[in-house]
Amino acid sequence: MNTIQVALGRRSYSIRVGNGLLGETGALLNELELAKSIIVISSKAILSLHGERLLRSLRRAGLDAQLVLVPEGEKHKTLATVEGIYRSLARRRASRKTLVIAFGGGVIGDMAGFAAASYLRGLPYVQVPTTLLAQIDSAIGGKTGVNLPSGKNLVGAFYQPRAVIVDPLLLSTLAPRELRSGLYEAVKYGVIRSAELLDLVERKHAHFPQRDKRALEQMIVECVRIKAEIVSQDERESELRMVLNYGHTLGHALEAATRYQRFTHGEAIGHGMIMANQLATEFNRLDPLDAARIDAAIRAVGTLPQPRGLRSSQVIRHMLSDKKFVDDRFRFVLPRRVGQVDIVTDVPVLAVQRLLRSYLHAES
Ligand SMILES: NC(=O)c1ccc[n+]([C@@H]2O[C@H](COP(=O)([O-])OP(=O)(O)OC[C@H]3O[C@@H](n4cnc5c(N)ncnc54)[C@H](O)[C@@H]3O)[C@@H](O)[C@H]2O)c1
Ligand SMILES: [Zn+2]
Repeated sequence: MNTIQVALGRRSYSIRVGNGLLGETGALLNELELAKSIIVISSKAILSLHGERLLRSLRRAGLDAQLVLVPEGEKHKTLATVEGIYRSLARRRASRKTLVIAFGGGVIGDMAGFAAASYLRGLPYVQVPTTLLAQIDSAIGGKTGVNLPSGKNLVGAFYQPRAVIVDPLLLSTLAPRELRSGLYEAVKYGVIRSAELLDLVERKHAHFPQRDKRALEQMIVECVRIKAEIVSQDERESELRMVLNYGHTLGHALEAATRYQRFTHGEAIGHGMIMANQLATEFNRLDPLDAARIDAAIRAVGTLPQPRGLRSSQVIRHMLSDKKFVDDRFRFVLPRRVGQVDIVTDVPVLAVQRLLRSYLHAES
């Protein structure tokens, strides 16, 4: 088992990563002295795949758990679903001594975390993420929240979990496209911090998760280390944490411009990273050979769905309302080399328009 610390003073916590760890959840909660009465927030689909092992482990450790089920999918990441969670917590007489376990992908993690942040002004919670994206990204760092009709993640709170328990074996049931979605984020971590990690993703991803469980675990540990270190230094995204947005300035806009229907988050970020590399080479910040190396790693993960039919004006429109647009300039995270990126705050609108036009044309 690997233990990675998120160092945030009194709100510090550890992330445990290990194959088979789900079966140790109860024991771990006892060890961390977190075990009290427990409410597991999850979905039917996830519970039918992995619920029994979680519940058995809690029972074996002498812990009593109740379940709260939420509907599956991004469209249910709403205040209405969170209100449903509040009502269920009330019916089950949750108190500040109740421990919430968020058991699911990023959607459930964000919602359960937000419910835990706000019910009775805060219940302790633990993340047990079940998708690759959640294991290496969303379950770490304490960003919780829900969507509004006018935009994603507009309501939420920074609220840190008490622990994160990551079992990579849970990914064996994940749809291949969901796995790839997470792999693009792993590529992102490689580019921003670690050439070795980029190498590992590139060499091994085709063997995940069935044929090389050790390599998958190792990759997850490296990603978690990077995210934990960045969050420890900048919990509230004042500056450093922005490096995690590599590929996201254009990626988010692609997702929004296609109404979140065409690309998974990771795929949109894949396109976003390739476009960021093009900007970086155009500005002479990145050697074209390095750009080609990163692009190859991104494309090796899988074929990205084409942005066919998308116009640059549609994408730009979404970028203008983004918080990455300040004083008529876009803020981009641009690589300098593999393992190092810069936050560039003065990218002109015209340069982005030009880039989008040529990219959307070439990729369609
Ligand atoms: N809080 C953060 O810092 C942060 C960071 C990145 C993304 N997010 C959020 O995360 C969400 C996306 O998360 P996601 O990609 O995990 O999607 P998701 O939670 O919707 O899960 C994707 C699908 O996988 C299924 N699934 C989950 N675990 C499974 C398993 N082990 N086996 C088989 N199927 C399984 C789910 O039922 C779902 O259908 C978005 O809402 C995004 O805003 C949050
Ligand atoms: Zn992302």
